[in-house]
Amino acid sequence: MRTQVGIVGAGPAGLLLSHLLHLDGIDSVVIELRSRQEIEATIRAGVLEQGTVDLLNSTGVGARMQREGFVHHGIYLRFGGRSHRIDFPSLTGGRSIMVYAQHEVIKDLVAARLEAGGKILFEVKDAAVYDLDTREPKVRYHHGGKLVELECDFIAGCDGFHGITRPSIPSRARREFTRVYPFGWFGILVEAPSSTDELIYAHHDRGFALVSTRSPQIQRLYLQCDPNDEVKHWPDSRIWEELHARLETAEGWRLAEGRIFQKGIIAMRSFVVEPMRYGRLFLAGDAAHIVPPTGAKGLNLAAADVRVLSKALAAYYATQDEQALKDYSATALRRVWRAEYFSWWMTSMLHRFHDETPFHHRVQLAELDYVVSSRAKAITLAENYVGLPLA
Ligand code: FAD
Ligand code: PHB
Repeated sequence: MRTQVGIVGAGPAGLLLSHLLHLDGIDSVVIELRSRQEIEATIRAGVLEQGTVDLLNSTGVGARMQREGFVHHGIYLRFGGRSHRIDFPSLTGGRSIMVYAQHEVIKDLVAARLEAGGKILFEVKDAAVYDLDTREPKVRYHHGGKLVELECDFIAGCDGFHGITRPSIPSRARREFTRVYPFGWFGILVEAPSSTDELIYAHHDRGFALVSTRSPQIQRLYLQCDPNDEVKHWPDSRIWEELHARLETAEGWRLAEGRIFQKGIIAMRSFVVEPMRYGRLFLAGDAAHIVPPTGAKGLNLAAADVRVLSKALAAYYATQDEQALKDYSATALRRVWRAEYFSWWMTSMLHRFHDETPFHHRVQLAELDYVVSSRAKAITLAENYVGLPLA
């Protein structure tokens, strides 16, 4: 089998790349470990930056998001028992964000690719990439009981943090930067009406909490926990007790309870590999970098990467000029490191650290107070949260 671009992984990065390449007349094959049902049901991100929204709209895959997503014009920072609103449009020249679940984006992209005759192979086993430093890189895998070799001009590693493409780069040709945080997030989905019109990021003595949403009937809540804890230690009563304690305000705000129908623990890390290229393999999305979810950046970074990569590939196929491909890693990494910085900053400001001193705690509160009382500092948060322009 042959294609122009072999794409490993049908997450947001792989599917969006395949879609963007198709619009430029470039052929690709996407291979995915899991089934279509699984990828369309995995609960992950919820916040799309303005630039991601604009990209989905301008490439014809935003119609359902426009109908079913929710535009939010700000967030609340809650600390010391009080809520403080950060207003995005007035701080960023009119920009906002969209709350629309990642698995809905996945459904829209899969539908668009299949409708356009695109090739996505699900439940592919034993994928491996070869001959990366030649002009004929290959992907080999088992599909439907057969061993297949896919010859490509280029390979895109879009297989997430635990994928096989990044480790296929010889260790002498990559450098990795990591920070693991001493806490995780306990995430739940709840059948309940929303308790707030915009997301609440709460700093509390007992740890961080986040109130997000999926729809007027379904809410998404998170609370800081031990990363090695287990879901079985968290009966519903304990979850509600913790959430009420961490979110309570002097203003008498109440969190609406409901039936919890999904629970999970998420590890928190920052990670970057440099460069995001080896020979004819290009990494994009979580395969190349991870951010802790406090800044809501991961999915948006994946979208930004593949926008740069698809343009570079389109330029190559139009003119045979490889310059944009040569620049891909440096161009993508500039934005990646800005998002790494922002996600680290939000995480550090809002969580309790097990080894923190009372001094550190007071400094966190002083910083939060600064963010909500200085326009300059509020702009720093707002312009990063809504996302840098996709230049
Ligand atoms: P993935 O989504 O991980 O997709 C990779 C795909 O590759 C998967 O489908 C996988 O099955 C497949 N794969 C793996 N190995 C192989 C293999 N060997 N062969 C074939 N296929 C393979 N980001 C935001 O922007 N906003 C948020 O609000 C936000 N909230 C988050 C909340 C949580 C709880 C979590 C966990 C993450 C959150 N993120 C958020 C991050 C976001 O979900 C990720 O950054 C995003 O999924 C990255 O997309 P990706 O396509 O690079 O990788
Ligand atoms: C979510 O809704 O899942 C979500 C929202 C904001 C974040 C992280 C996750 O910062």
